[in-house]
Amino acid sequence: MFIVVGVTGGIAAYKSVQIVRLLVLAGHDVHVIPTDDALRFVGLTTWEAISRNPVTTSVHDDVPTVRHVALGQSADLVIVAPATADFLAKQAAGLAGDLLGTTLLATTAPVVVAPAMHTEMWNHPATQHNTGVLRERGVHVVGPADGALTGGDSGPGRMSEPEQIVAAALAVVDAAGDLAGMRVVVTAGGTREPIDPVRYLGNRSSGRQGVAVAVSAAQRGAEVDLIAAHTEGDALEGARAHPRVRVSQVSSAEDLQAAVSAAAEAADVVVMAAAVADYRVDAVSEHKLTKDTSPDGTRTLTLVENPDILAGLVASRRGGQTIVGFAAETEPDRATLLERGRAKRRRKGVDLLAVNTVGWTRGFETAENTLYLLNAADDVVAEASGTKHSVADALWDAVVAARSAR
Ligand code: C5P
Repeated sequence: MFIVVGVTGGIAAYKSVQIVRLLVLAGHDVHVIPTDDALRFVGLTTWEAISRNPVTTSVHDDVPTVRHVALGQSADLVIVAPATADFLAKQAAGLAGDLLGTTLLATTAPVVVAPAMHTEMWNHPATQHNTGVLRERGVHVVGPADGALTGGDSGPGRMSEPEQIVAAALAVVDAAGDLAGMRVVVTAGGTREPIDPVRYLGNRSSGRQGVAVAVSAAQRGAEVDLIAAHTEGDALEGARAHPRVRVSQVSSAEDLQAAVSAAAEAADVVVMAAAVADYRVDAVSEHKLTKDTSPDGTRTLTLVENPDILAGLVASRRGGQTIVGFAAETEPDRATLLERGRAKRRRKGVDLLAVNTVGWTRGFETAENTLYLLNAADDVVAEASGTKHSVADALWDAVVAARSAR
């Protein structure tokens, strides 16, 4: 989402750095507009570094892009935090004397403001009147909280915590999303099947595609249970930053099965993006195996088949539930790949199958991905290529289409 964060001149501006950080981590494109006064509290360099976008403060900057209205026109959401008494008064009057003012008059996006000031200023009839005018205009007001203020005094006027402001702002947008009101379960990452206390059988899944599927669903309004097997590095960060994604971590296929079966009972959609090991070691050693191989230099591990979790979900699906599977294939020929995908979709009985080409340098551990989406009629409903987030969005488009076709 394209999000504008306006910052006005109050000491709580330092907390808004965390608001910007949380939004960026959740995958949003964040543009900060500080007022001149706000820059006395937190400098331009900080806003640029944290938002990862250029920051300008004046209507006379970057004139060829018509920036004084362009930011407002592009915005999907505008947050102003902190919102001073002076800002609320200017907004109520519709003043547009600076870049934040012009942006707010140019936008049709939802606007969320988080007031912060001393109790006397918040309680003043002028401020209460101005806030009322903004509320009537559809502006969402978060806080202020009742608590410690900068002068050592205490009372209503403290800016709400960054996490609360982000959650409230995203909830405003999410409520209008096409997955609003849905419960979704997504699995991600690769399972590890233990051999002994220090060794395992694993795979190269980074979990990034599954996490993108979870975050995309949350951004479109769903409540998401993300069941993550092993993931790479910071892959889970975006999911942890989104207030509507609940992350639980598991290790082996059997752990994953227990978690997903429980979560699926209340789910409208289940997406099995995890790379689940087909086999596990039949007897896990209590002690680290020593190097006492047979005379011919080999060691034999006996593997037993893991349960097919997806097949189990399909067998026990509740009415109206949509189940999506993934197929990671190394087949290079498109026609053969799709034929194999169709056979797998039928075998698994899923409503949608996302066919994912993988290889030594494709699919796993990479930022970009290509997915072919096969529906229940075995048609290719999308051939999505691009960032894992954009591909995840295409997957949700296909889920929405499949559910409305029923
Ligand atoms: O048959 P294959 O392993 O290619 O199927 C992949 C799909 O099945 C994925 O959605 C994966 O999460 C799921 N799967 C499963 N249980 C297994 C193996 C795979 O649910 N034991």
